[in-house]
Amino acid sequence: MPVRFDPVTRRLSLDPRDPAFFHDPYAAYATMLQHTSVAYWEELGCWCFFGFEDVNRLLRDRRFGREMLHVATRDELGWPAPLPHTGHFDEVDAHSMLEREPPVHTRLRALVSRAFVSRRVEALRPIIEEMANDLVDAFPREPFDLLTRYATPIPVRIIARMLGVPNDMAPRLLAWSHDMVAMYGVGRSYEVELRADRAAAEFSAYIRRLVDERRASPGDDLLSLLIAAEEQGETLSEAELVSTAILLLNAGHEATVHALGNAVHAVLRQGVQMDRIVGHDAALSQLVEEALRFVPPLHLFKRYVLADTEESGIALARGEQIALVLGATGRDPRIHDAPDVLLPDRAHPQHTSFGAGIHFCVGAPLARLELQCALRVLFTRCPDLALAGAPRPKDSWHFHGLDTLFVQV
Ligand code: HEM
Repeated sequence: MPVRFDPVTRRLSLDPRDPAFFHDPYAAYATMLQHTSVAYWEELGCWCFFGFEDVNRLLRDRRFGREMLHVATRDELGWPAPLPHTGHFDEVDAHSMLEREPPVHTRLRALVSRAFVSRRVEALRPIIEEMANDLVDAFPREPFDLLTRYATPIPVRIIARMLGVPNDMAPRLLAWSHDMVAMYGVGRSYEVELRADRAAAEFSAYIRRLVDERRASPGDDLLSLLIAAEEQGETLSEAELVSTAILLLNAGHEATVHALGNAVHAVLRQGVQMDRIVGHDAALSQLVEEALRFVPPLHLFKRYVLADTEESGIALARGEQIALVLGATGRDPRIHDAPDVLLPDRAHPQHTSFGAGIHFCVGAPLARLELQCALRVLFTRCPDLALAGAPRPKDSWHFHGLDTLFVQV
């Protein structure tokens, strides 16, 4: 994997679609972090920030935002017209809290945050543990893929349950979600766009039907809570309701599946003594943070420059994008000793794996709880768990994870 970096111009050349890079991006991050925190990445066509201090600061910096059209028109920005074949996908995106800035973001986030207060999340602990135990009960004796049988079902069933989506919809949710998040990959194709649009159309139609059902007979679920907010005039439109449900269902499992797969893989590969850890809440939560630092599931998020400005000696123009390489920050040698080793008792495993600032992951408390419960049940019930062959890495950089992780109990 050739990494070409010129320290004078700070220009980086590296193909993000090269499997040698995205299967193990950490070697390239180490090379970059040795020289600099920021570089102009030719193939991405934008300035990219790698260091912990910079990424953590810029995520909170209000000169940069996730959207642009709240401060400028397409014509002013010289943007092309929206694609004719991604209307359904764009409609979902346009009302998603993740893609909005204040004041719309503030209003949507306040409504959703209510569902993720620690009391509500903590109440899910016994449910997650029971689910994890049931899945372990069904493990075969021969080698099997832990992602299919364990890491994937837990987060999708939990978030579906929170929203009040029936359990048997889990496979459909996974399929829609995979097709939609493929839009965030580097160099997406026309086929990927068509599939994402179809998934968005079907997913939205399904959520609309569910909203009608819940309006008729509300339950104790997040969808009913959002409907009640809408009906009480808290200015949540039906389009926002649909987008919020889809965002939560997608964000609620995609990253957690890979965080869990990556963590188990790292633990097994490094031979971490899990029996010392699973019996102690503090040690387990420390291990989860260290795994999120060491092998985070989401590696890249972008921001728009809202007005002409200067950053790190670089002139940035309104409307251009900068990239924040979240996946690199946990490996920053300015912050961590031995950044390329998983140390379960590392004192302060700092990372930006859940982001920072106004878009900081609203589901972080739930993700942390799921990871703790899933690791505890897995390593308590399967103390001899071992890798059965090399895992197959996922064909993607942004979503950094595994396609398969074969293990033996
Ligand atoms: C280990 C698992 C997870 C990771 C690593 C993760 C990571 C992230 C990151 C980095 C962001 C910020 C993106 C940005 O700043 O542009 C984010 C936002 C978000 N996440 Fe997560 N997430 C995880 C699990 C979850 C779960 C379980 C849920 C929901 C149940 C969730 C829901 C959301 C939502 C709704 C946002 C948008 C927040 C906003 O725009 O204010 N995430 N997540």
